[in-house]
Amino acid sequence: MSILIICPNRESKPWLDDLTKVDPSIEYQIWPNVTSKDKVTFALTWQHPEGVFNDYPNLKCICSMGAGVDNLLRDPYLPESVPIVRLVDPGLAQAMFEYVCSSALFYVQNTALYQEQQAKKIWLEQPTKSLSETTIGIMGLGKIGEHCATQLSQLGFKVRGWSRNLKKINGVTSFAGNDQLLEFAKGTNILVCLLPLTEELTGILNLRLFKSLAEDACLINVARGAHLNEDDLIEALETNVLSCAFLDVFIQEPLPLEHVFWNNKKIHMTPHSSSITNTQAVAPQIINNYRLMCNSKPLLNQVNVKQGY
Ligand code: GLV
Repeated sequence: MSILIICPNRESKPWLDDLTKVDPSIEYQIWPNVTSKDKVTFALTWQHPEGVFNDYPNLKCICSMGAGVDNLLRDPYLPESVPIVRLVDPGLAQAMFEYVCSSALFYVQNTALYQEQQAKKIWLEQPTKSLSETTIGIMGLGKIGEHCATQLSQLGFKVRGWSRNLKKINGVTSFAGNDQLLEFAKGTNILVCLLPLTEELTGILNLRLFKSLAEDACLINVARGAHLNEDDLIEALETNVLSCAFLDVFIQEPLPLEHVFWNNKKIHMTPHSSSITNTQAVAPQIINNYRLMCNSKPLLNQVNVKQGY
């Protein structure tokens, strides 16, 4: 039995090294140099080539190298009977909180404006807002969203959350479902997207939603590029419906050189780096799931394929 590592757009060595440290007795194979396909029972993957899992007749579990599974579920040839698991890691959630928090503070403190003023040698005080006067609305209250919401509320922001089903989280005002989306948006100064990417959530960050936010609101998208209607964002920024946007994810990654986002001063971008998986931290949970699979025990963090996350 062996674990297959299949990540054509990522380095496999750190994964191999850290998994081997946790369990050197397991045989690891790295795609595409697979010598014995029959032996593969567990696949650890990120952005796999479509249909590839059908080459492994004894595959019993597919594990995403990240929290998201949208790129896995997009494969129309995904073997239906093989369970899919994802990574859940407190370190990932904390890194995401730190990214969201620093973006929110950059916005609240008028940092971009002061940078511009400095470049022009302008000494001019700008009105500030306290955290307690600032409402952050978090879309998506899964493990990462809930952690961000709780931490931001403890910092002093007013926090509200929106999810498919109503959630009860200390310090967070909750909204649920399409019926409550615009009510959730009303009065939100900083909109944070932490949703999983499903068909119905594609393009949810659009002009209609932006127009429902508080004046001069800011968008932080750290979920998936396809949640955002890119043309609507440009229009919202040009018409001052939104004052700025922090984007870590894009429909096409890496962002094409000719993309209009690069030169937009109101857009602050990072290259899908808001919360990077620490291979050392997650290796034990991957091996744990491998052992559970070997013993036919229930798996950890199994994805509901129908639901899409
Ligand atoms: C990263 O985007 C992840 O899904 O973990």
